[in-house]
Amino acid sequence: HREREINDLASVLVPALRGETPSNVFIYGKTGTGKTAVAKFVGKELLKKGEETKKNVNFIYINCEVVDTQYRILQNIANHFIDEWNEHVPFTGWPTDEVYSKVKSMMDKEKCVTVIVLDEIDKLKGDEALYSLSRINSDLENARVSVIGISNDLKFTEFLDPRVKSSLGEENMIFYPYDAEQLQDILRDRVETALKPDIIEGDVIPLCAALSAQEHGDARRALDLLRVSAELAERSKSSKITRNFVKKAQNKISIKNECIV
Ligand SMILES: Nc1ncnc2c1ncn2[C@@H]1O[C@H](COP(=O)(O)OP(=O)(O)OP(=O)(O)O)[C@@H](O)[C@H]1O
Ligand SMILES: [Mg+2]
Repeated sequence: HREREINDLASVLVPALRGETPSNVFIYGKTGTGKTAVAKFVGKELLKKGEETKKNVNFIYINCEVVDTQYRILQNIANHFIDEWNEHVPFTGWPTDEVYSKVKSMMDKEKCVTVIVLDEIDKLKGDEALYSLSRINSDLENARVSVIGISNDLKFTEFLDPRVKSSLGEENMIFYPYDAEQLQDILRDRVETALKPDIIEGDVIPLCAALSAQEHGDARRALDLLRVSAELAERSKSSKITRNFVKKAQNKISIKNECIV
């Protein structure tokens, strides 16, 4: 159900296969709308096409919830190009400028186009990382970089340095919530690979989909509901997953979420 988004993102990135610089993209959408899944899928396709056509394209996926400073972002990118473990840039200790220079020289040496995904970009501490990446193309001689930023916080870009903001937002994509019908398809798809379809009562998938459609069309919530329902059914040694288990799963998940908040 994200064919249009997949195609849109792929068409932004396709210049990479001609050695040109793809536009930077900012992707916004609520949680569970498939942003991460689409970005990773398109990245894989890009690498595959790159190999087929013998073009030097790189794809680097970084989750900014985990890697959240300018130093760590640059360190991650640099190490992507360094095969020898003992030559890796260390977690801390180098001047940030030196890590930046390392990234630049590795890329120039490889003469490549690199697409960098910064997922959960709103979790970055400060915008220095984005600032370095927005100016790196003017420092590179033989290589090109493009950045895909992903967030579920629409306000995130408001507070950025104007230069960073306009650079990151060259293209914008919005992932709209899934409706109940799309969620049903996603669930059926997953059931086919993960469960025996005949242990699920007919009204279970529509119920999971409807409940999650109310939760701003969150596919992760829909899949969790089904998974937890299956676990609860198994635990009570029931041969069928019924709507009762879905209701219990719903309670369990909302209690858990309240505890986290
Ligand atoms: N169209 C789809 N088809 C099948 N599975 C999907 C689809 N969209 C999302 N999913 C699944 O739903 C879950 C959530 O998707 P994903 O992680 O991509 O959401 P997200 O938009 O990145 O959310 P967040 O903002 O919380 O990071 C994943 O398990 C993903 O595989
Ligand atoms: Mg995500």
